[in-house]
Amino acid sequence: MCGIIGYIGTKKASPILIAGLLRLEYRGYDSAGISTVEKNGLSVMKDKGRVKNLYNLDGIDNLEGTIGIAHTRWATHGKPSKENSHPHLDNSNSFAVVHNGIIENYNDLKNFLLDNGYTFRSQTDTEVIPNLIHYYYTKDEIDDNYRVLRAVQKACKDFKGSFAIQVISKFMPNNMIVVRKDSPLVIGKGDKENYISSDIPAILSFTKDFYLLNDYEFALLSKDTIEFFDINLNKLDKKVTSIDWNTTAADKSGYDDYMLKEIYEQPTAIRETIGSHLPENEPCHFENLNLDKKFLSNINKMYIVACGTAMHAGLTGKLAIEHICNIPVTVDIASEFRYRNPIIDKNTLCIFISQSGETADTIAALKLSKSKGATTLAISNVIGSSITREADYTIYTHAGPEIAVASTKAYTSQVILLNILALYFAEILGSVSQEEISKMKKEILALPNKIEKALNTSTEIKKFAKKIYQEKDIFFLGRGVDYNTALEGSLKLKEISYIHSEAYAAGELKHGPIALIENGITVISVITDEKLVEKTLSNIQEVISRGAKTLVITNQTLPSNNIDEVIMVPNTNVLLSPIISIIPLQLLSYYISKEKGLDVDKPRNLAKSVTVE
Ligand code: AGP
Repeated sequence: MCGIIGYIGTKKASPILIAGLLRLEYRGYDSAGISTVEKNGLSVMKDKGRVKNLYNLDGIDNLEGTIGIAHTRWATHGKPSKENSHPHLDNSNSFAVVHNGIIENYNDLKNFLLDNGYTFRSQTDTEVIPNLIHYYYTKDEIDDNYRVLRAVQKACKDFKGSFAIQVISKFMPNNMIVVRKDSPLVIGKGDKENYISSDIPAILSFTKDFYLLNDYEFALLSKDTIEFFDINLNKLDKKVTSIDWNTTAADKSGYDDYMLKEIYEQPTAIRETIGSHLPENEPCHFENLNLDKKFLSNINKMYIVACGTAMHAGLTGKLAIEHICNIPVTVDIASEFRYRNPIIDKNTLCIFISQSGETADTIAALKLSKSKGATTLAISNVIGSSITREADYTIYTHAGPEIAVASTKAYTSQVILLNILALYFAEILGSVSQEEISKMKKEILALPNKIEKALNTSTEIKKFAKKIYQEKDIFFLGRGVDYNTALEGSLKLKEISYIHSEAYAAGELKHGPIALIENGITVISVITDEKLVEKTLSNIQEVISRGAKTLVITNQTLPSNNIDEVIMVPNTNVLLSPIISIIPLQLLSYYISKEKGLDVDKPRNLAKSVTVE
């Protein structure tokens, strides 16, 4: 999705803006541009294509401005082109704007502006923003330091939809204005300089101190000051949040790709996420989470709502909570949940999982649940992200910044956190024996070392990837927790190798999908639940007898049979096994993508953070 960068300080802005955009490339984009405040007015340099093309634009080296805004665009309204790229200017070239999100009522606003003599150069929804600001600016008769801010505020009151907006103007050559609604934006505070970004990692090398804006909050920045305002322009007092991510966490540290680095960071990510939640000889503990026995006993149902990989983590959480706490859990895709009428009341706990904390559908689902009276709990990897500010409670994964579009360490961190959460509920409810809880805690603490062992399968996996990377279709099978792992393995493969792939609950095969099995097709199965070994093996035999090539990821001793490849991973409690059995599947997608010569970190058509519907 689109990315925003801004700088206001004493240095030349353009190199800082381009460097920032390069750090946002992973979010996915099709064009890029910058605008700076120059002595003779506003400059705009933009084009479709890669950020690095900006270095070749005529005149870019001559920019001297120390205030600027920048953008990577991921087309929604209007094709990728120079005209549709951001920043956009108003008709009089007095205001430059970059925007993330969608102005849903832009057609009405455009007609209004057309009626008032404005013209448009692009097909974007964004171009109404600088023109509407100009409209309100000219209507304001008070010419003080806040005139541009008032114009931006009035324009924002007219917008329907989502937006993170940065504005610079020739009428305020020492300032910049930013505002957001349902779209991410952070302000990094430096010494005599301030930075703006869509996400924290992009400006982490400049500062660790951030201001996090809530919906309809405005910031008026100079190099030395930041003033905050609410929608009615009442002044706000906001606190700095310090982020403890280190800068190497946001670079490749010698790995070829972020995805590979992040796969190998999983033992650390899990250790950090377990953190202090499992104190020795004491119940599980979450700072800021105080759900009591009365509340938990009255819960009639839980929902876990998320998208993509985070939803797959939710499926594993459902099994843990149902098994240990005996509470029914429904897992929902956020984009479906938000448009149906989920049965929710004050005795419902809704859990929302989002690595970025900025996924539009997940945020909308959270708002819906709150409006129906549910208690809401967010699980996110990004401190201060939007879902964490909307939810009643937040618990964090501590995976560190995840840059590759394909989620790996965030997924395993979410799975572990959900299991610890299930234990936390179980201890309060007394729903399982202390012995079972202690066993599970031990298993959790042993996981980082076991993940390290699972990473050692990489040589075997790489060989297997070489054999199958040209396939057109690959199937994944599993039962119980292993079905969830199959779903996640299949999603990883699709995302970064562009191979068509489906995951099936192994027992469903006979009810239709087996018709797709033909000679030579690859079927990958996961078997970690000892109760289901024989059942899944029977399904594997069914595909073998129809000519399938088979790979099995397992922690069980399987009877010798005609499976082509068996990859062994360490054993653990079955509820935790997805954290280990997914590792070879992550590696498999990675090596297939490399064999095919694809861009592992930035797969086509995908964005890291899906901030629009
Ligand atoms: C994972 O590999 C995907 N890129 C995607 O499914 C992702 O998990 C989904 O978009 C949800 O993102 P979130 O966790 O940031 O909400």
